[in-house]
Amino acid sequence: MVKLTEFARGGGCGCKVAPAELQKMLAGLRQGEHGALLVGNSHNDDAAVWNLGNGQLLLSTTDFFLPVVDDPFDFGRIAAVNALSDIYAMGGKPAFALAILGWPVEKLGAELASVVLRGASQVCAEAGIPLAGGHTIDATEPFFGLAVNGFCEVKHLKTNSGAQSGDILYLSKPLGVGMVNAALKRGSMPDAELFARALESMLKLNRIGEALGRVEGVHAMTDVTGFGLAGHLFEICKGSSLQANLKWAMIPRLEGLEVLMNSYVFPDMTTRNFNAYNQNMSELSAEALMLLCDPQTSGGLLIAAAPEAASAVEEILRADGGSIIPIGTLLSGKEPFIFVE
Ligand code: CO
Ligand code: CO
Repeated sequence: MVKLTEFARGGGCGCKVAPAELQKMLAGLRQGEHGALLVGNSHNDDAAVWNLGNGQLLLSTTDFFLPVVDDPFDFGRIAAVNALSDIYAMGGKPAFALAILGWPVEKLGAELASVVLRGASQVCAEAGIPLAGGHTIDATEPFFGLAVNGFCEVKHLKTNSGAQSGDILYLSKPLGVGMVNAALKRGSMPDAELFARALESMLKLNRIGEALGRVEGVHAMTDVTGFGLAGHLFEICKGSSLQANLKWAMIPRLEGLEVLMNSYVFPDMTTRNFNAYNQNMSELSAEALMLLCDPQTSGGLLIAAAPEAASAVEEILRADGGSIIPIGTLLSGKEPFIFVE
């Protein structure tokens, strides 16, 4: 049995380029003026947004990564759920997707790649969209993901810059999949049920984003992926010029995660995230550092909503089986900052 994770240095959103390196890469990049481009790369939003001029927006995004699990079908499914998530995080509805596949054909064979693609195709069917094409290359490491296009009504768009002081924060999926993936990669996964819970979470579509898009009081949304809750929350704080007050005890985490936290099993990306956001956060305990900087693969939606919209948001989360407990609030302040209490 081939173990896909053995062919990858890092996996899932944990193989994202570290925030500091990404900044260097994007420095000096000029987008130019394009009247129809409503959202480009300025606020690190989940997708680019193009105004079609008829009240409709075109959303476009891509996401791909190295294997995060050993099973090729699950890898295809997780990568697809994760890529679709960026459309939902903008309040949109996906329309169609293209596959992006790199494969060491000689080492792994074409058959396994076809299983990855079948996994992705199943997720696209679940989301009600076609996997309409794609591009493949013969590569030294396997990687897979999708480019996704979607639509959104102008009035339903949620970006990182729309949050307001007083907004309540929600997180729809528990944190900790980065730690689980690290344990799996090191062959030291102590709890099969913990892995099953992490897998279930990574396979869950964030389609509630579409419904949340229609809730007027939802001011900002993003999906929590490689930069962890700390990083993605900081994007909202920066984009909206606000500070966040997180309630540590309320942050949802995978049931049974303590077994990994107590033995300090976490991926390298956790430290890179901490180095990037450390100066913008209050002092963290070891546990808070591991959890808040844990890179999520196919993580949940982080939602900033007005208190008046709380019941509407909680109803959508409850119907989806997500966590309905507020994890904190946003408030005005001089510099974007995250307080953890
Ligand atoms: Co995203
Ligand atoms: Co993404």
